[in-house]
Amino acid sequence: MRFSSEILCSFLLLGLTTAVSTFSPARPPAIPLAVRSPYLNTWLEAGSNGANGGHLAGEWPTFWFGQVTGWAGMIKVDNETFTWLGAPGPQTVTQTAFVYTSTRSTFTMNVGGFVEMNITFLSPVTPTDFKRQSLIFSYLEVTVSTLDGKPHAVQLYADTSAEWCAGDHNSVAQWEYGVTGEVAYHRFYRQTPLMFSQTNEQADWGNWYWSTKNVAGLTYQSGSDDTVRGAFELNGKLANTKDTNFRAINNNFPVFGYAVDLGTIGKSASGIGAVDLVSTVFTLGLTQKMAAQFVGQTMTEVQVPSLWTSYFDTELAAVSFFYNDYSIAAGLATKFDSKVASDSLSAGGQDYVTITSLAARQAFGTVQLMGNSTKQYLFLKEISSDGNMQTVDVIFPFHPILLYTNPTLLKLTLDPLFENQETGDYPNSYSMHDLGTSYPNATGHPAGNDEKQPLEECGNMLIMTLAYAQRAKDTAYLTQHYSILKQWTGYLVDEALIPANQISTDDFAGSLANQTNLALKGIIGIEAMATIANLTGHTADAQNYTSIAHSYITQWQNLAINKNTTLPHTTLAYGMANTHGLLYNLYGDTELGLNLVPQSVYDMQSAFYPTVALEYGVPLDTRNNYTKSDWEMFAAAIASTSTKELFISKLATWIGQTTTAFPETDLFDCNTGGWPSGLQFTARPVVGGHFALLALSG
Ligand SMILES: *[C@@H]1O[C@H](CO)[C@@H](O)[C@H](O)[C@H]1NC(C)=O
Ligand SMILES: *[C@@H]1O[C@H](CO)[C@@H](O)[C@H](O)[C@H]1NC(C)=O
Ligand SMILES: *[C@@H]1O[C@H](CO)[C@@H](O)[C@H](O)[C@H]1NC(C)=O
Ligand SMILES: *[C@@H]1O[C@H](CO)[C@@H](O)[C@H](O)[C@H]1NC(C)=O
Ligand SMILES: *[C@@H]1O[C@H](CO)[C@@H](O)[C@H](O)[C@H]1NC(C)=O
Ligand SMILES: *[C@@H]1O[C@H](CO)[C@@H](O)[C@H](O)[C@H]1NC(C)=O
Ligand SMILES: *[C@@H]1O[C@H](CO)[C@@H](O)[C@H](O)[C@H]1NC(C)=O
Ligand SMILES: *[C@@H]1O[C@H](CO)[C@@H](O)[C@H](O)[C@H]1NC(C)=O
Ligand SMILES: *[C@@H]1O[C@H](CO)[C@@H](O)[C@H](O)[C@H]1NC(C)=O
Repeated sequence: MRFSSEILCSFLLLGLTTAVSTFSPARPPAIPLAVRSPYLNTWLEAGSNGANGGHLAGEWPTFWFGQVTGWAGMIKVDNETFTWLGAPGPQTVTQTAFVYTSTRSTFTMNVGGFVEMNITFLSPVTPTDFKRQSLIFSYLEVTVSTLDGKPHAVQLYADTSAEWCAGDHNSVAQWEYGVTGEVAYHRFYRQTPLMFSQTNEQADWGNWYWSTKNVAGLTYQSGSDDTVRGAFELNGKLANTKDTNFRAINNNFPVFGYAVDLGTIGKSASGIGAVDLVSTVFTLGLTQKMAAQFVGQTMTEVQVPSLWTSYFDTELAAVSFFYNDYSIAAGLATKFDSKVASDSLSAGGQDYVTITSLAARQAFGTVQLMGNSTKQYLFLKEISSDGNMQTVDVIFPFHPILLYTNPTLLKLTLDPLFENQETGDYPNSYSMHDLGTSYPNATGHPAGNDEKQPLEECGNMLIMTLAYAQRAKDTAYLTQHYSILKQWTGYLVDEALIPANQISTDDFAGSLANQTNLALKGIIGIEAMATIANLTGHTADAQNYTSIAHSYITQWQNLAINKNTTLPHTTLAYGMANTHGLLYNLYGDTELGLNLVPQSVYDMQSAFYPTVALEYGVPLDTRNNYTKSDWEMFAAAIASTSTKELFISKLATWIGQTTTAFPETDLFDCNTGGWPSGLQFTARPVVGGHFALLALSG
């Protein structure tokens, strides 16, 4: 039986749409569609406030910043047209299921009761395979089979619009169509590229490639949205014509369409020419030969290539490799998905699988591999909070996913920070906050006037450098950077025990003196340096720093713990009555195996957190009722079993219930599940910290 649009309508009126599709393991706030870098970062807004509640058909996909990135899909079955992606106009297919894994978002559609479609958006995550990880491309696979056992004539349509290629939609786009080997491609780009420039967070340079296989039944067309989509609706095929009136992106929106005649799907009466299941693969990606500007060792601004350029001589070679690699990429993706799922299941149960598998693409979608065959970098964009590049206190919450998937990637993230500061280009004695105010310009802060988080960043650099060296057994790295690490430790020795009035990474919460959790990070940093000194043969330094760290941690316990209560716990700041907060910096002690902080502190916090938990989590601290999901997972990773379960189950529940309909925010109100007022974070790298439990198990 087919669902008429009338029946669908009454479902909508009765508010029963959620009954139509299942969502597994949850309906997240936004569904990743093509998420591979800060600039290939498109989602389906899906939370309960999302226009369409997680249904792919009938709502336009959006860039993380909110603007539409036009992506349309239609299907004709026995001459009747349906929409399966975006909102091009025709009646929508009926979504029956949605499933996400670490690399895939898969929708199952019932098309009028005639045929079934599985639509899979695959954004590969290959942390140890740099050739594949370097490609800023994503897959879309559509499979079709008969649903009613009868044969059906089927034509499939998909397009992208020029909205992908520049953030200023008044700017002029240009485009071409071509075929390379067996791969057909539409190439489109900003007619006047602006190197390293962003508008509305989108890149203003680089070429976009929208490709599919050049099969016998393929037709293509470029032109206005109405023209190209209308041609398919009318004819089930396109005109094989090119619109050469290059114009503004928002002037009769140029779109780049493909139609594929799938022939007859399902067993035909005669059995001749029958096909049971047909698969069509599309790819979409961005090529920028130069991806960033960087002031490193040479102390001058140099352009850094995208790393794919060291594997491929031409853009088309990259396009063609990625397209033809689908079966291998799909196999690698399945392996990665299964590993994250099974490791997460053992570390924290099914709710933890819900959390990590949503975070993987978001986290890797904030970084890009750059460099050449001799020197690689992993550059990071502090998406949504301020767009800084290589922010140290964002790399810190992000870094567990790198430790878990490939510690070398952490080194490639820290390298540019060391390079810049070791030349003396940065004047302060403490660690810098970020390498550039606006991604992709990693041009440093020669005036030393970056956001000041001295204690936070010195501690972060020491902890992360040792974490990498331990996991990779790379003592040479510690020797190489010993001098500046020692300089930062000197700062900590002076400042960590009694922290001056300053901000921590949670800068939105304001500045405060004597922050308990911040002091702890600094003290752990000093002990990390003791280990670094020991590993590199600096025995006297090792003894000096470890004795300082031990003396500090004893004093810290007297200053930081409110013992005058039935449930002792650390306060937000020394001596501050009736306060508490997440002591997430304790994680470094376990991560590095320091055994600096007594087990009693761990036990005390584990017993305390459940007593202050709200609906969706444990508040960050007593100043507000919001929390940070990354810091909750840091706290969970080192908590007792029952407290760990509490953190995890509340976060997983929040994922399925939040009213925020943007790519997962790490900052939300524990009572309402929504954004705190005025603080709409989204799509940030720090969800890499959701892997905090897994980074400890390796
Ligand atoms: C397909 O539908 C269109 C419009 O509904 C109609 O004009 C056309 O004749 C139909 N073609 C076939 C082959 O049924
Ligand atoms: C869709 O996926 C489901 C589950 O893997 C499978 O049973 C079904 O055959 C698939 N259908 C199509 C059209 O690929
Ligand atoms: C990066 O620097 C270039 C100048 O070298 C400038 O044109 C561009 O706008 C900057 N990008 C951002 C995002 O600020
Ligand atoms: C590779 O990159 C490094 C670091 O930016 C640079 O020093 C070197 O000259 C580059 N090599 C080539 C062959 O371009
Ligand atoms: C220990 O380290 C501190 C801070 O760097 C330094 O001031 C002090 O002189 C050192 N003491 C010894 C004995 O090395
Ligand atoms: C910070 O704590 C120390 C030790 O308790 C105290 O002496 C100092 O006055 C505090 N600073 C502020 C600004 O409260
Ligand atoms: C340094 O290494 C020695 C030998 O392994 C060990 O006994 C000592 O505790 C270490 N000290 C520090 C500060 O890690
Ligand atoms: C402990 O708390 C109680 C009740 O809040 C108060 O009366 C007492 O003075 C406190 N003692 C100390 C040492 O702070
Ligand atoms: C937090 O929420 C509780 C109710 O759950 C309320 O009593 C309290 O005042 C709120 N605290 C803040 C800082 O808003």
